[in-house]
Amino acid sequence: MQEFSNKHALIAAVVSDLQKEFEHVLSSEKEVRVLLSGGSTPGPIYRALSNECTCLDRVLFGLVDERYVSVESEFSNERLLRECFEMAPVKVRIEGMVHDSDDLELNMEQLELAYAPFIERTDLVLLGMGNDGHFASMFPNDSASEEALHASEKKLSYTTAPNHPKDRITCNAAMISAAKTIYLVITGTEKREILMNTALKLPIHQFLEQRLDLHIYYTAL
Ligand code: 6PG
Repeated sequence: MQEFSNKHALIAAVVSDLQKEFEHVLSSEKEVRVLLSGGSTPGPIYRALSNECTCLDRVLFGLVDERYVSVESEFSNERLLRECFEMAPVKVRIEGMVHDSDDLELNMEQLELAYAPFIERTDLVLLGMGNDGHFASMFPNDSASEEALHASEKKLSYTTAPNHPKDRITCNAAMISAAKTIYLVITGTEKREILMNTALKLPIHQFLEQRLDLHIYYTAL
């Protein structure tokens, strides 16, 4: 775990590391395939990346997870990403997860096709973590989340969050774990204490057993 004295130092470090990681991937691949989380923490990172990254035109961004709401909704992770990258100097490719907000099954069919590149190869995933130890949209005490945590096949799943909006879509743990590089960004002492308390066996702890090499970025402030 890398600890930073404040959020600005953390953001600068994550953006610098992302740039280096993208350049490394581009030395052998035509494009970098990146899955980003939503929530309230990573927005400043994405805005800084939008301003500073020199290879955004060669990155395909997708979502780690999404709330099953309209992409115009204030709760939409896709909306968050599009807003963060709207001032980028190049057109940024973002593959959303909600193609049909009225028909779950039809949406899943369209999603499996749209996320085929990420199933084939994901280079980097940026995760956050909730105070209940969830990551992506895999929550404690939810059977679909449990299935998504332990399935061996890489796939996209529907899960249920404890809070509104409850209907969620998520890359499952196998899909996330197949990524070359995984960053976990957490802020606040409460999240750090939860993360360190592996005896709680929360979703993040179960995932850490699969991928001990997460790059963890933390600041208390
Ligand atoms: C989401 C995110 C989710 C997030 C955690 C932490 O859709 O909410 O993808 O997994 O990373 O909930 O969220 P905060 O950064 O807001 O604490």
